[in-house]
Amino acid sequence: MITLFSLAMFFFASSLHVEAQDDERIKVYANRGDNITLPCRLEGLSNLFGNRIKWTKLEDDSTETDVLMSMGFHKKSYGNFEDRVYLLEADGNDATLVITNLDLKDYGTYRCEVINGLTDKMVEVDLELQGVVFPYSPRLGRYNFNFQNAEAACLEQDAVVASFEQLYEEWRNGLDWCNAGWLNDGTVQYPITKPREPCGGARTSAGLRNYGRRDKSNSRYDVFCFTASLKGLFYYLIQPKKLDYEEAVNACERDGAEIAKVGHMYAAWKLHGYDRCDAGWLADGSVRYPISRPRKNCSPTEAAVRLVGFPDKKQKLYGVYCYKPQP
Ligand SMILES: *[C@@H]1O[C@H](CO)[C@@H](O)[C@H](O)[C@H]1NC(C)=O
Repeated sequence: MITLFSLAMFFFASSLHVEAQDDERIKVYANRGDNITLPCRLEGLSNLFGNRIKWTKLEDDSTETDVLMSMGFHKKSYGNFEDRVYLLEADGNDATLVITNLDLKDYGTYRCEVINGLTDKMVEVDLELQGVVFPYSPRLGRYNFNFQNAEAACLEQDAVVASFEQLYEEWRNGLDWCNAGWLNDGTVQYPITKPREPCGGARTSAGLRNYGRRDKSNSRYDVFCFTASLKGLFYYLIQPKKLDYEEAVNACERDGAEIAKVGHMYAAWKLHGYDRCDAGWLADGSVRYPISRPRKNCSPTEAAVRLVGFPDKKQKLYGVYCYKPQP
């Protein structure tokens, strides 16, 4: 009886092995705040074997982050994923992962490994967020961020440092920017759609210009940030007169909101078609306006978020954009 059973298992296992070698790759598209499932199934084996299931995230700098580990009834989630992930366990073959309340940092490639002693199976799933990439430099001017500063600067704009794939996608959508910025893999690049002399040469082809990996502490550049769709409300606050920076901050607060961040404006502009031809203060002290329908006196040549600059904070010359997070 035992022999027969082992023999059956042997055949079972050999036929499965082929399947285990043919690793699949799946793409999942999502919005910030969504609950999503990353599929992973081990067909043909019941959970009687006490499968070990391990979900990891493959980061762009080639490190791995633990997401969730499961062995029978014992389950553990890690770090930023703690209490935010669980296994769907629709049936005995299901190792599908659920991530709740998707965050900007959740973007990337996930690996599901099922280990049952006889055969291992691995599935990779790419999780892509709908979003927008924007170049960022601070009040001090261009090329002032080492990598750490760049990460902090994006975070302050409700964004994260963009990946190569995200910048590439934005370049394909027409982003042309002649200042180099950090990406999350530690490289420094910039996207050119209209080749010209000061931007890597007029005779080179369009594409991402790549300076390669740079010293994260000592090299200084701008940064490309990535942000995704908003859950809250972005708006221009109608006011009887123009404001200085402090008045702008207070005006949003009185309206039950906060002064908007640069990432909020880009998300509203790119993902929600926001258009307003009034220059307004943002939280970082910059003054900008978002144009999605180019017209005379309002970014006539292209849809863009226009930067007026980082004016003296005492100047009473501008309006203000506010952001009201969803309750
Ligand atoms: C996501 O899942 C959580 C926890 O299961 C639930 O509380 C929340 O309402 C869900 N959100 C959405 C947008 O479905």
